[in-house]
Amino acid sequence: MERVNKIKTHPLFLQHMAQNTMSEENRQFCKHDLPHALDVARIAYIINLEDGLDSPKEHIYAAALLHDLTKWQQHTQGVPHNESAVEPALQILLDCGFSDTEIAAILNAIFQHRSPPEDATPFAKLLFRADKLSRACYACTMSADCNWDRDKQNQSISY
Ligand SMILES: [Fe+2]
Ligand SMILES: [Fe+2]
Repeated sequence: MERVNKIKTHPLFLQHMAQNTMSEENRQFCKHDLPHALDVARIAYIINLEDGLDSPKEHIYAAALLHDLTKWQQHTQGVPHNESAVEPALQILLDCGFSDTEIAAILNAIFQHRSPPEDATPFAKLLFRADKLSRACYACTMSADCNWDRDKQNQSISY
């Protein structure tokens, strides 16, 4: 997990996460902070083991840590965060020693994490699934006003 631990102290990572925190200071709905990124990583890793998907642990954690990196830009400028995350994520992954092939798979999963197409890779589908499962809608006081339809909200603990 050496390369993943480099991500968590990368200046660009810290800068964007700080901007996420600032932009969500008064947010009542789900946040896009480090606990969320780790929830996604751990749930994806559990599913990866349970379903025998064989995605490398470092890829899972790297994609999860970076998937909502630029959410603040969506809050403040309306930029789709799955798109805006790609550029800083590329720089961070290069600096942390991931290869071109690894980076391509991770960036693809980040880019598709909001709605992977039917033919998305198992890795991209894994990130999407873990992201959705990470939210505790069943304990949320804002669920009535959430932009997730009621039938898409998590009503029970799965992971
Ligand atoms: Fe997201
Ligand atoms: Fe997310």
